[in-house]
Amino acid sequence: MQYSRLLKQITVIWLATCLLATQVFANTVTGENGAVASRSAIASEVGVEILKKGGNAIDAAVAVGFALAVTYPSAGNIGGGGFMMIKLADGEVIALDAREKAPLAADRDMFLDKDGSVNRQRAMVSILSAGVPGSVAGYLDALQRYGTLSRQEVIAPAIRLAEEGFDLNQDLAGQFQRNLSRMENYPGSLAVFSKDGQPYTAGDRWIQKDLAATLRLISDQGRDGFYKGTTADLLVEEMQRNGGLITHRDLEQYQTVWREPIHGIYRGNDVWSMPPPSSGGIVLMQMLNMLEPYDINATGWGSKDTVHLMVEAQKRAYADRAKHLGDSDFYPVPIKQLITKPYASQRFVDFDPHRATPSSEIHAGNFPAESTQTTHYSVLDSNGNAVSVTTTLNSGYGNKIVVTGAGFLLNNEMGDFTPKANTAGGYGLIGEEANLIQPGKRMLSSMTPTIVMRDGQTVLITGSPGGSTIINTVFQVMINVLDHQMDLSEAVAKPRFHHQWQPDSIRFEEGAFASGVQPILESMGHQELRGARFAIGDANSIYFDGSIIKATSDPRNVGGASAW
Ligand code: DON
Repeated sequence: MQYSRLLKQITVIWLATCLLATQVFANTVTGENGAVASRSAIASEVGVEILKKGGNAIDAAVAVGFALAVTYPSAGNIGGGGFMMIKLADGEVIALDAREKAPLAADRDMFLDKDGSVNRQRAMVSILSAGVPGSVAGYLDALQRYGTLSRQEVIAPAIRLAEEGFDLNQDLAGQFQRNLSRMENYPGSLAVFSKDGQPYTAGDRWIQKDLAATLRLISDQGRDGFYKGTTADLLVEEMQRNGGLITHRDLEQYQTVWREPIHGIYRGNDVWSMPPPSSGGIVLMQMLNMLEPYDINATGWGSKDTVHLMVEAQKRAYADRAKHLGDSDFYPVPIKQLITKPYASQRFVDFDPHRATPSSEIHAGNFPAESTQTTHYSVLDSNGNAVSVTTTLNSGYGNKIVVTGAGFLLNNEMGDFTPKANTAGGYGLIGEEANLIQPGKRMLSSMTPTIVMRDGQTVLITGSPGGSTIINTVFQVMINVLDHQMDLSEAVAKPRFHHQWQPDSIRFEEGAFASGVQPILESMGHQELRGARFAIGDANSIYFDGSIIKATSDPRNVGGASAW
């Protein structure tokens, strides 16, 4: 009962946020010099223009990031946060953490009502749900350290798109229409996303003057154009108008963190992915490690044996996520132990090839303590620099509050904290002490920007939105490419399934299992197999075979890839 309620909650969150699987719009392009795959064709073109101009993948990734804040406002952002995995031409791989932080005035119980119950509305759609934004600092820090073009050059396309506008397609106009009712208490939001309260329709030109002015301040002044001065004043005024917590001090103190990526080897491929405060890299590596002893290629895509194996790996890794993962600056996450192969085999000793282990019998592993929306894009340049970026406001359009006069939406990332130990938070994910709210702490994420290399060369750049499902999307794209040896378009398009330990339920896209497999899985003890009401993931990815670059935007959505 409790689980089906949870499942309903998850579905509602999905309804409100995510990934409408409305159109099949395959978009795979090839090139030899560079490519970008993102959720917005306009933004992908911006990235390739930067590459053509002589910029590297980092320049292009920063330009795409700012452009997405204009052309894909439900998740592209300057009021949110994200992660960037960078693989440089010389082989070095680094992770940039531009995740939002809890404001200094945040409190562990801030999303609990007096009776101790979790107030989901406050956690997900109020001004209190906003974390201190990290995206602008992230893009600028990446550019400063590894870019070759000036800040003005990479932000210019975004300013132009905001200032001159662009014609809305049905996808965006439909999203705005669906979100208007949630914005009605916020005049600043209505001013951006409606025509004086009237919905935009496809074909309307959409101009964002205030956002253009904010982007110009960032272009002129760098981080001070956002974290200080006019933009900061407007953001803090918005907080004060609605009872929010973010102060000038929070903004001034925000810093990104360069982190050591999660690294592991899967069947000879080097896998690089995001460390805490994301759970993505660790959980992904755990699942790959659990799978490695099995010949997935022989058992075949979608077969009962393959799906059973993958689901059992998902349950065990997500159980560890619940207990052990949180912001490693605040909590001793046993990173190194979790991603070893011996730990994975120990974790999988109770795997029964014929029976599902109920989630209630799966508990997190133990160690000696060691002191609807997001979007993903992938970039590769001709020198072998690769960038994998996942960025988010959390829900689609974040907390729906536009900073009046500054033209950008605020995130509702505080909803990713565990509001109360052992209680489901955002996306129905359970958490414990590791992910409770503390001032200045980063909320645990599932975002999994990933780069796979073989013999020193980038082969796959991938990642996805989808809340708790993100890690499983990346997992499946990787398995499809590395084990099933599918072409990138097929690997990304193949229907997916998801298990997150609790609830003990498999959600799946139609066709995620080979024919006749679903009843067999049920007879093996897998519980609550349910069709996902919305697409799982949006994995805009790039594959490189050593000569041809293939870039694909996920056919579940109206994105776009560009290559040259
Ligand atoms: O960081 C996280 O894991 C979430 N805030 C991601 C949100 C998301 O993917 C929503 N999209 N569909």
